[in-house]
Amino acid sequence: MVKKLAPYIKGYWFPTILAPVLTMGEVAMEVYIPYLMSKIIDEGIALKDRNLVISLGIRMIVCAIVSLGLGIISQWATSKATSGFGRNLRAAMFRKIQDFSFANVDRFSTSSLVTRLTTDVAQLENAFRSIIHMLFRNPVMIVFATVMSFRINRGLCRVFLVAIPILGLSVYIVSTKAHPFFMAMMDKFDTVNAIIEENLTGIRVVKAFVRKDKENEKFQAAAGGIRQAQLRAEHVVILTGPALDMVIYGTTLAICWFGGKQMIAGTMQTGEFLTFIQYIRQILFNLNMLSMVFMMIIMAGASVDRIIEVLEEVPDISDEEADPDLVPEDGSVKFDHVNFTYKKDSDNYILSDINLDIKSGEVIGIIGGTGSAKSTLVQLIPRLYDVSTGAIEVGGRNIKDYKLETLRDACSMVLQKNLLFSGTIRDNLKWGNENATDEEVIEACKAANAHDFIMEFPNGYDTELGQGGVNVSGGQKQRLCIARALLKRPKILILDDSTSAVDTATDRAIREAMRRQIADTTTFIIAQRISSVHDADRVIVLDNGRIDGFDTPDNLMKTNKIYREVYESQQKGASENG
Ligand SMILES: Nc1ncnc2c1ncn2[C@@H]1O[C@H](COP(=O)(O)OP(=O)(O)OP(=O)(O)O)[C@@H](O)[C@H]1O
Ligand SMILES: [Mg+2]
Repeated sequence: MVKKLAPYIKGYWFPTILAPVLTMGEVAMEVYIPYLMSKIIDEGIALKDRNLVISLGIRMIVCAIVSLGLGIISQWATSKATSGFGRNLRAAMFRKIQDFSFANVDRFSTSSLVTRLTTDVAQLENAFRSIIHMLFRNPVMIVFATVMSFRINRGLCRVFLVAIPILGLSVYIVSTKAHPFFMAMMDKFDTVNAIIEENLTGIRVVKAFVRKDKENEKFQAAAGGIRQAQLRAEHVVILTGPALDMVIYGTTLAICWFGGKQMIAGTMQTGEFLTFIQYIRQILFNLNMLSMVFMMIIMAGASVDRIIEVLEEVPDISDEEADPDLVPEDGSVKFDHVNFTYKKDSDNYILSDINLDIKSGEVIGIIGGTGSAKSTLVQLIPRLYDVSTGAIEVGGRNIKDYKLETLRDACSMVLQKNLLFSGTIRDNLKWGNENATDEEVIEACKAANAHDFIMEFPNGYDTELGQGGVNVSGGQKQRLCIARALLKRPKILILDDSTSAVDTATDRAIREAMRRQIADTTTFIIAQRISSVHDADRVIVLDNGRIDGFDTPDNLMKTNKIYREVYESQQKGASENG
């Protein structure tokens, strides 16, 4: 565990080591002070030596000041090391997640990744802070205080030397028992975060369907789940409390008993006894603290496992064997006996035996019922998912021969669930091409029929978009996403239901503009409306993950039953409405 996490201390080793070293100095001072105290009582006061009392008093003050100074610097170092460690860890996790394929993300779920990046890292930071500060402070304090109390009275020390192993054992037993409970607790956090995320991103839907009460109930149940898991975990942990108390009070009682006897017999002085009690308190108090630190480490243990899971996840899709200089020659696409399933170990294919041969520059329509795997089919081209069996070629080469970056640069995809990010419209568009000039941006927006509405905003291209692009309409968002994809000047352009929210006339205008501007680009248009694909060169008709027809629209009208039925039902609908 330590070996896996140590690399993330990089850049912060100095404060990480400085903190415990200074803490040890601080502790030495704290332990020395009661010793001086006993000398003042037993030598200075008993012998009425005023000068001795003053010199010992000054020494005490100096010790206190030094201890304070060391304490402050060590706290500073602790904070610096902890925040640095947290930063490194978060950055590393984030970088890793960026390499995840969709399948990796599906496996963790987004909300669990969010919890792991936030709550789990915070837990670990807490533990790290305790480790470099307390974990050294407490044992050192215990050792020093034990040594000092040995110097005062060897016999009495035996009492608490018995107590320490008992305590250690109980902490160990509790910690091993509690771990699985804390693991379960963190999983419950995932559930709560999932509900929060869903409800906040989907707040409009929640309101529209008046789901408030239902969602509240769901949240209550999930929050209750955390409470229960927490209680279960803490029921185990709480056992250390009484065990500790028993040892502490038992020890104090035993010392009073034996120490009292020695004082009566005259073999121990008052100052010695008081100081001894002081040391015993320090020791037991620190044992208590130590057990708390252990608890924190146990709690963080669950988080560490969850963090390491992310850091060690192997990205499903890698391009290590790819040729870095290989660039797709053109936009031709070939599917060769492709089968695909989302679940790795299932033979239940979502796409079965797909064979396609598409020339560069063709416009390909894709239609099919919902769930017929249209989105799945096109997502395989930029390797958002990898085929289960079979192969896909772009520009005459297997897509696995290209670097992911090269491949994805060559194919622009407007996802069905597309998204804009906070920032200005211009910033968002430039995701397509960072170096695009203003003219190019405007040209792409004109092709996507977005220029006119952008200019209607008071700030035009500098209009700030809210998170996820909340302040533009669905149709406007779709057009911005198309413009963003066009700016890439891709060899292959995939539009997954990207004009569903714009009217038929605009839809046609966009297609015409694209035909003019990007005539060489192979374009895939997934659509529910037959009018969106009827001017395509060829159309794929998908039915339940299989190709039912692949031909020109005219031929499909004659030969393909599904195509004809969809056409007729939509024509009928149109004439009834019109
Ligand atoms: N990430 C995923 N994990 C597991 N199964 C999925 C995933 N995405 C889609 N599926 C399943 O794959 C099948 C095909 O889904 P796909 O999204 O490709 O359909 P579609 O034709 O695009 O539908 P629509 O017209 O509604 O967009 C569906 O049965 C769906 O349940
Ligand atoms: Mg789809």
